[in-house]
Amino acid sequence: MFNKIKGTKDFLDLSLFNFLIDQVKKHLSTYNFTEISTPILEPLDLYKRSLGQETDIVSKEMYIIKSESDQEMICLRPEGTASTVRAFVENNINSTPWKVYSCGPMFRHERPQKGRYRQFNQINMEIIGSKSINQDVQLIKMLERFFFDTLSIDNYALLINFLGCPEDRVKFKEIFKDFLENYFEKICSTCKIRKESNILRIFDCKNESCKIIYKEAPRITDHLCQPCQIEWTEIKNNLEYLSVSYTHEPNLVRGLDYYQKTVFEFVSQDLGAQSAFCGGGRYDKLVKEIGAKEDQPSIGAGMGIERILILLERIKDKLAIPLLPPLYVILPLSKEEQSLALIIADELQAIKKAISVDIFLEEDSLKSMMRKANKMGAKFAIIIGSEEKENKVVKLKNMITGKEDILKHKELISIILNN
Ligand code: HAM
Repeated sequence: MFNKIKGTKDFLDLSLFNFLIDQVKKHLSTYNFTEISTPILEPLDLYKRSLGQETDIVSKEMYIIKSESDQEMICLRPEGTASTVRAFVENNINSTPWKVYSCGPMFRHERPQKGRYRQFNQINMEIIGSKSINQDVQLIKMLERFFFDTLSIDNYALLINFLGCPEDRVKFKEIFKDFLENYFEKICSTCKIRKESNILRIFDCKNESCKIIYKEAPRITDHLCQPCQIEWTEIKNNLEYLSVSYTHEPNLVRGLDYYQKTVFEFVSQDLGAQSAFCGGGRYDKLVKEIGAKEDQPSIGAGMGIERILILLERIKDKLAIPLLPPLYVILPLSKEEQSLALIIADELQAIKKAISVDIFLEEDSLKSMMRKANKMGAKFAIIIGSEEKENKVVKLKNMITGKEDILKHKELISIILNN
């Protein structure tokens, strides 16, 4: 027997998953996003360049594939932003803002736990080529409307921070470094290393004693240049005008190096330690970094499907998940009636009506076939014995009321059509 790879998941019932994808596609189309699809395999260097060498994803979580014949190092994509930007640059897209989304699996070699997988699914959306900070407001409002109104998720918080421009961050890193000098002996060894390699990542530390120290740390939003200060105020004001509740989380930096200015996360206590079910932010320098001639200021977000499914599982009775079409099972009572059963099934499966049709071909007794039909949730059984075959009729049994009708084949079809 083989077991699935650690950190992966089998989906044996996709009704909630498909409902979510269906709803998100409808929602994104309302906001004029177009669906695209990019490969799961990408060049390793794309992520080294875009996410940053010091990020957890690049330094320890990549699934790298090296083929025998090929020198190129390729990898399983760990996220969707870099691939979308690569597609934007490579396909010479010149109509901006380019508002696109994609759905699919991502791969990160993380320690598996509740809501954290090594293969997981994301819905990734990007607005490439728009410097207006109000694009950020609109994106956040769109997400809030989706989670709260469409999915009825209510136990969540929206955390927002503003990381300023690269110049602001250079200055802030020095201010933060000075602050850390006083606490150097008290912070954990990872933070000590990060202080030199990627100082802002220190804010991602999960160590309680470090977190207490960083609560007192200087805030980047108190050290913004004037244009950034104006943008940060504008975001907050416009979110308020749109009635979006948010919490300013001064230590939210997000673990990817491409972000600047706005960063945000939707988190829910119902998820436990892996509380973020959607995260995103602005990345104004990435498009040029990946090879475009000019900068294309951009913003985007990624939703974690598995985490949203955990939240939806609790409230699924409230959701308008489409019902399965009514199931008709055809029961030929012996091998002699199977050809007729195949013909009738074929006719029913061809009619333009949302029904589901199955045939029992295992030559079981009527009693055991009826039991099986019940267990499968069949709404109707179509019974064909030798007598029915001879008289060119079928017996239609309503599995809920028990009512039985003897019908000619044409009558059966018209009853189903008009049902
Ligand atoms: P991220 O925060 O790394 O951002 O991932 C987005 C979401 O994917 C997370 O909020 C979480 O719900 C889900 N997720 C991440 N890792 C896992 C995992 N190991 N298992 C299950 N779910 C996970 C990004 O990926 C950015 N590319 C988002 C973005 C788009 N920023 C701008 N544009």
